[in-house]
Amino acid sequence: MIYAPCLPRLGTFDAWRDAARALASNGVDADQIEWTMDGAECSLFGSGAALPAAQSMTVPKDFLPLAKLVCASRTTGAHDLLYRVLLRCRGNAALLDNRADTEVQKLVALAKNIRRDMHKMKAFVRFREVTPKGANRRQFISWFEPDHRIEELIAGFFTRRFADMDWGIVTPEVTTKFEGGFLSQEALPSDRLNLSDATEDLWRTYYANIFNPARLKIKAMQSEMPKKYWKNLPEADLIPDLIAQAETRVHQMQQDAPTLPPMRAERILERLPARPKAENIHACTRCPIGAQATQAVAGVGPDAARLMIVGEQPGDHEDLSGKPFVGPAGQILDSIAREAGIDRSAAYITSAVKHFKFKPRGKRRIHQSPNRSEISACRVWLTQEIATIKPALIVALGATAAQALTGNGTQIMARRGKIETSLEGLPVLISVHPSAILRSPDSANLRAALLEDLSTSRIMIDALESDTTVTPITSI
Ligand code: URA
Repeated sequence: MIYAPCLPRLGTFDAWRDAARALASNGVDADQIEWTMDGAECSLFGSGAALPAAQSMTVPKDFLPLAKLVCASRTTGAHDLLYRVLLRCRGNAALLDNRADTEVQKLVALAKNIRRDMHKMKAFVRFREVTPKGANRRQFISWFEPDHRIEELIAGFFTRRFADMDWGIVTPEVTTKFEGGFLSQEALPSDRLNLSDATEDLWRTYYANIFNPARLKIKAMQSEMPKKYWKNLPEADLIPDLIAQAETRVHQMQQDAPTLPPMRAERILERLPARPKAENIHACTRCPIGAQATQAVAGVGPDAARLMIVGEQPGDHEDLSGKPFVGPAGQILDSIAREAGIDRSAAYITSAVKHFKFKPRGKRRIHQSPNRSEISACRVWLTQEIATIKPALIVALGATAAQALTGNGTQIMARRGKIETSLEGLPVLISVHPSAILRSPDSANLRAALLEDLSTSRIMIDALESDTTVTPITSI
């Protein structure tokens, strides 16, 4: 008798498990089964004998997680192999531990391919914003072509990571949607979506910034970021040109080496491995501000932070408490960062100038912006913080931070939302300072701008966290 269980495109694993349990618990031989996937073949072979009623049976605890992965495989014979191993596990509970067994080896290799495909999907999905005017949640969409049927396996990852926005991921066979906190999936044939939006430019600038021609390893890069993913990556069309120009750029860098600020900065970074101590900063006499302040305020955050947020200088509250962004501007920053999905405790937060500059007026201390020479005198401490933290992305809040980081403090509103390069060669996303929101008549727009920029930084950091493509070729 031949059985032909037909597995649906969604719920594949549950269907395989139910059918396999019914068949294996009744001792049905693997040669009597033709596993088919829902689709054309299903209607051809879907007329097999009715499945027998399942009897109780047990399997080794590692079998089901492995089966869940392998069920997503497109490799011919994967479901059959799984069933054969299941049958053999019944008489040998330790079978999966026997890595010399050929069938176990094949199964483990199939599972490894699935994990790799999931890893690529985590790394290379690029969301494009499609929020309609007036929507209260931001909306994003993405197109991806996985090698295997991994959409169900991966949905939980994207749901956890992007829980605070609505999104859709469309693949050639499945549409996954997360709307208003609810996940849904539909087996729906789709053609490739052509998507583009403003974040494409950010990705391209970011990638061009972090691309270090001197560290170019084309083989490593292509094995991490195979060409087939390029068409869906906004930054990918830069790659051929960047590779083509790499040799000339390296040659140019070698020629320019003695006078290039980033090279000089790199050498300084190597000599300054520890983050600066507040007492050392407080003792600094490179500019006069410190003489007036209660204490210096150094940055806070984990050494491993990937995101660094740089403000202007401590205010009255920060000067008294010794911690950055704890006063009114800090409260605004906290609330917008939270809305943008940034966990403040995971970011490194600091200011371009480490002492509070003010003018006494009666009992009050009135904030004064630091001038260029004070910003530049204080840069040594920021340099030391950057060298220790090595962030993947820096957000500059306002003109002072932009000046300190990039050497250019002009016209923030024309630059905000864009990525520039720090003196160390790291990507800097320019934004507005939260205290401007407190002071400006245009506070609603400034708030929206800061929210948008912090959301962007969070999306970039999230994507980079699962993206190994940048590590082999960059200096971050
Ligand atoms: N503004 C800043 O730039 N930094 C602080 O720590 C507080 C306010």
